[in-house]
Amino acid sequence: MNSSYILAIETTCDETSAAVLKDGKELLSNVIYTQIDLHKKYAGVVPELASRAHAAKVAGVISTALKDKQITPTTIAFANGPGLPGGLLVGRVAAETLGALYNVPVMGVNHLEGHLYAAEFDGNLANKPLKFPLISLIVSGGHTELWKVTGYGKYKLLGKTRDDAAGEAFDKVAKLLKLPYPGGPQVSALALKGNRGAIKFPRPFMKGNFEFSFSGIKTAVSYYLRDHKDYNPADVCLAFEDAVTDTLVYKTLNAAEKYGIKNIVIGGGVCANKKLQNKMLEEGKKHGSAVRFAGKGLTSDNAAMLALCAYYKLNYAKINKSIKINPNMPLRSWISK
Ligand code: KG4
Ligand code: ZN
Repeated sequence: MNSSYILAIETTCDETSAAVLKDGKELLSNVIYTQIDLHKKYAGVVPELASRAHAAKVAGVISTALKDKQITPTTIAFANGPGLPGGLLVGRVAAETLGALYNVPVMGVNHLEGHLYAAEFDGNLANKPLKFPLISLIVSGGHTELWKVTGYGKYKLLGKTRDDAAGEAFDKVAKLLKLPYPGGPQVSALALKGNRGAIKFPRPFMKGNFEFSFSGIKTAVSYYLRDHKDYNPADVCLAFEDAVTDTLVYKTLNAAEKYGIKNIVIGGGVCANKKLQNKMLEEGKKHGSAVRFAGKGLTSDNAAMLALCAYYKLNYAKINKSIKINPNMPLRSWISK
């Protein structure tokens, strides 16, 4: 049988990435160009600058991902949403151009679905199939969502954030503390120097549902800073990080408990947070659940996760290969129950 080579392209936000996946299991390349330095001075992603940078870098990133591989892609996949419109257009044009050049199909992949599957690549980037049913926590700069997943392409939304995404809350708190963008890693590093118990922020557990809300914690932080001029930034970071990670772990484990599911999978930028990982592993163990995270280098935006998702879509379903972009694209099942 001829091998399949999926070339995937990611341009939804502030990372330009291209990856090549052979036969759904061998990651031949995953090149990521991050725009963080470009956006740092604005303390957040500037959409116009982001699309210009994608346009400037995408060809080089693709060429590096394909270099020396002597391969011809059999499918071109790209993230067609959710994301910033300008970036999505760059991804689509690049993908369609390559599709025409190689005379191969082009397909859109949901960026969030990529985050869901990223945990299939473990730390060594070896691909180990997920075990279903599972509870998936997708926790990034733009999204915080809890899903029940009963198989490839079979999803049920359990809850999402009513306001800020967890990563967004990290970034906003970092901004309040005048820490550089992106805030998550900065807050997390400073939290290591904090004194536990010095401050306590509320945990929005909202019992009885699987929804999240992080704007209250962020507001509590801003009031604390206003009222305590001599605050210790490390204590603030620790108390904030504890509140957010406790909430994420509590909700995820509750969902696993309610549905009697013993597999938990976490993806998205915030899952790089060591405290979140350790708490989830610890609590998962108590619950008897196996917990998996997106592999190293695959927590933030990357094209490898899209290539994997495209592989499953191609192999498990005769899906329509829509390439229409949708900045607000929701995650949807593509296999009916
Ligand atoms: O998945 P991602 O790269 O992009 C989106 O799809 O949004 O996630 C980026 C988010 C940012 O908000 C960033 O601050 C957060 O992930 N993040 C972290 C950590 N590393 C990245 N948040 C908390 N702790 C971290 N170690
Ligand atoms: Zn993302």
